[in-house]
Amino acid sequence: MRILSGVQPSGALHLGNYFGMMRPAIELQEHGEAFYFVANYHSMTSLFDAAERRANTLDVALDFLACGLDPKKSVFWRQSDVPEVAELTWLLTTVTPMSLLEKCHSYKDKLAHGITPSHGLFAYPVLMAADILIFDSNIVPVGKDQKQHVEVTRDIAIKFNEAYGQTFVLPEPRIREEVALIPGTDGQKMSKSYGNLIEIFGDEKATRKKIMALVMDSRTPQEPKPDAEKNLAVQLLRLVAPADVAKDFEDRLRAGGLGYGDLKKALFDYCWNYFASARTKRAELANNLDYVHQVLTDGAARAHAVATKVLQRAKKACGLD
Ligand code: ADP
Ligand code: TRP
Repeated sequence: MRILSGVQPSGALHLGNYFGMMRPAIELQEHGEAFYFVANYHSMTSLFDAAERRANTLDVALDFLACGLDPKKSVFWRQSDVPEVAELTWLLTTVTPMSLLEKCHSYKDKLAHGITPSHGLFAYPVLMAADILIFDSNIVPVGKDQKQHVEVTRDIAIKFNEAYGQTFVLPEPRIREEVALIPGTDGQKMSKSYGNLIEIFGDEKATRKKIMALVMDSRTPQEPKPDAEKNLAVQLLRLVAPADVAKDFEDRLRAGGLGYGDLKKALFDYCWNYFASARTKRAELANNLDYVHQVLTDGAARAHAVATKVLQRAKKACGLD
């Protein structure tokens, strides 16, 4: 079983990335051949600063390794180090109906947020399809927002297979329902694009400030809160604290007597401690960048070996050999 996923180097990684994609991906390393990459081509649809892309790419690599991606178990590389994926994108583009891309929620959301679309932003799901198909991937662990892109990938693979004969493996999204959509500081989906994130490796003071500033309602601490399970701090606490601790806070909030300040303080403490060992690991890696670069170089070579074979198969199928 081949497992594949990517994360864009478009900004600091956050709790949504971690619980929605990285942790499930790290757990899946034990269950198959895992292929994970830093999607730097994808970041070109939203980030237009070369130095920032370079810095973010290294940061994402450090973050993922610090959180437990094990290069002995997983292949880990920078997307642009396997440029065959751009060639496959062209082949796939020619069998992709415009209507398939026009209905993508993520594209429509970006338009709704006032972003002027480039052709790259519109065509981005085809690049993602190439990422997935060029490795014969079976399982794609992602957050809920990416589910449609994996479905589009399947549709594109089917179109290609229909036109040129059986070529591509059909992948399946793997989404954990309980962490499919982590809320941000405003209660909406936590996202780099929405300015509502809590960073995994943020500075202590800034992280505390963000958590203490989570907006709660104006009910007094004594008032019982029958909707305690929906409270934003409780939802986040469930991710970072042991289940019985989170349940205890939720029950105390429901019964009345627990103030929002105390709840948020507990959330910060659990959140900070949750990533303590990853923080230490990250600092070690940051002092050993040669090792990190070597991991990415080795990963690219291993990824390249698979990608060239599948690309050859696709080129042969459509008469480009
Ligand atoms: P962002 O939306 O912050 O730009 P990305 O699009 O780079 O994040 O997402 C990387 C991975 O993290 C994807 O698999 C995505 O589904 C997952 N992810 C991002 N935000 C969340 C969230 N709030 N809840 C669950 N998963 C998320
Ligand atoms: N589009 C994904 C995101 O924004 C990142 C990504 C690129 C990806 N290619 C992929 C995820 C292939 C899974 C598989 O989160």
